[in-house]
Amino acid sequence: MLLLLLLQVLASCLWLGHSEVMTSFQNCSQFFFRATPPNNGLLPNSAAYICQRYNNQYHYATLYNRVMRIPVYSAYLYQPGSGNRSNNWMVEPQLISGNYSPSMATEHTLRKNVSLQQIMNSQAVNNDYKNLTGLNRGHLNPHCHQPNPNSRIATFTLTNIVPQNEILNGQYWNNYETVTMASESQNCTNTYVVVGAVPGNNYIANRRVNIPSYIWSGACCETQHKTLKSWAVIALNANNTVTNLTLGQLEGNLTQFYRNGPVSLFHTDCPR
Ligand SMILES: *[C@@H]1O[C@H](CO)[C@@H](O)[C@H](O)[C@H]1NC(C)=O
Ligand SMILES: *[C@@H]1O[C@H](CO)[C@@H](O)[C@H](O)[C@H]1NC(C)=O
Ligand SMILES: *[C@@H]1O[C@H](CO)[C@@H](O)[C@H](O)[C@H]1NC(C)=O
Ligand SMILES: *[C@@H]1O[C@H](CO)[C@@H](O)[C@H](O)[C@H]1NC(C)=O
Ligand SMILES: *[C@@H]1O[C@H](CO)[C@@H](O)[C@H](O)[C@H]1NC(C)=O
Ligand SMILES: *[C@@H]1O[C@H](CO)[C@@H](O)[C@H](O)[C@H]1NC(C)=O
Ligand SMILES: *[C@@H]1O[C@H](CO)[C@@H](O)[C@H](O)[C@H]1NC(C)=O
Ligand SMILES: *[C@@H]1O[C@H](CO)[C@@H](O)[C@H](O)[C@H]1NC(C)=O
Repeated sequence: MLLLLLLQVLASCLWLGHSEVMTSFQNCSQFFFRATPPNNGLLPNSAAYICQRYNNQYHYATLYNRVMRIPVYSAYLYQPGSGNRSNNWMVEPQLISGNYSPSMATEHTLRKNVSLQQIMNSQAVNNDYKNLTGLNRGHLNPHCHQPNPNSRIATFTLTNIVPQNEILNGQYWNNYETVTMASESQNCTNTYVVVGAVPGNNYIANRRVNIPSYIWSGACCETQHKTLKSWAVIALNANNTVTNLTLGQLEGNLTQFYRNGPVSLFHTDCPR
């Protein structure tokens, strides 16, 4: 009996090890400071690990909440560049099943292989974001923090998007993305960012997609002088305000919201 149980455990471990795509960030650890993703304090019951792949390259990483159909967070290197928005929103074939492409694709392209219903079962789709009032598509990893046309296009996947207060998105959050990030990262050579959304009590699209209560961001950088520094912000999605915090304070806030043990967003070397 015990032997049987042991064999079962062993078999399930081996099986998990085999489906590495959906269970870890092993192909995109370069987007995390010291290759260390946030700990399990933020991990929902039904998560997908997405190495965001576009045009044969990885551009950032996203932990996706399959039940809420919004990202938990996106993690990326801050390398601001200029360029145009993309008008082609994409979805993730890999969320349907491991048999599908690991690269993001437009709904239009993917519909050649699967039904809209199959896509809708696994993630948010364009229709979910139609007819919103007071909310629009808020990027977690914003295109303006990405260095080249492909990496900017790669931010236009719905797995990197939450329903965000339209005014917050256009004003104070935009100000954090452009002014605060530029000012704080002045002396940074490498700036690692983790930006996330806390699930709220409201939904759009017939309860398909959650409206987050808070949107937050933490950064950790290595400076020219080989020192480390960090900063963080949090915004109530219902309100057009962004609050500056220390990284330690943000982790404290998230620990309270998630009630899943102490949250750590970066490797312990990063100052709190
Ligand atoms: C991850 O990398 C391994 C080794 O390079 C590769 O075999 C695997 O297909 C990659 N996974 C995805 C989703 O690209
Ligand atoms: C942005 O769009 C404008 C107008 O369509 C175009 O002239 C310009 O070349 C584009 N810039 C880039 C970097 O693609
Ligand atoms: C659609 O299926 C074809 C053939 O199986 C495959 O080569 C292609 O990558 C698939 N496209 C997507 C977006 O998954
Ligand atoms: C959005 O509104 C249009 C026009 O009122 C309607 O035809 C369409 O079905 C709505 N779409 C969704 C997803 O609610
Ligand atoms: C937050 O910090 C940034 C950068 O240091 C600063 O420009 C901004 O004024 C601060 N915001 C508030 C509300 O204190
Ligand atoms: C950047 O370094 C300079 C010179 O060491 C210092 O005066 C300045 O305050 C630093 N800026 C930030 C945002 O830390
Ligand atoms: C909402 O924003 C206003 C300023 O615009 C601020 O005074 C108030 O404290 C905020 N409410 C919360 C709950 O943060
Ligand atoms: C986050 O933590 C700070 C410092 O501990 C606290 O003052 C603030 O009220 C918290 N913010 C939220 C939204 O819980």
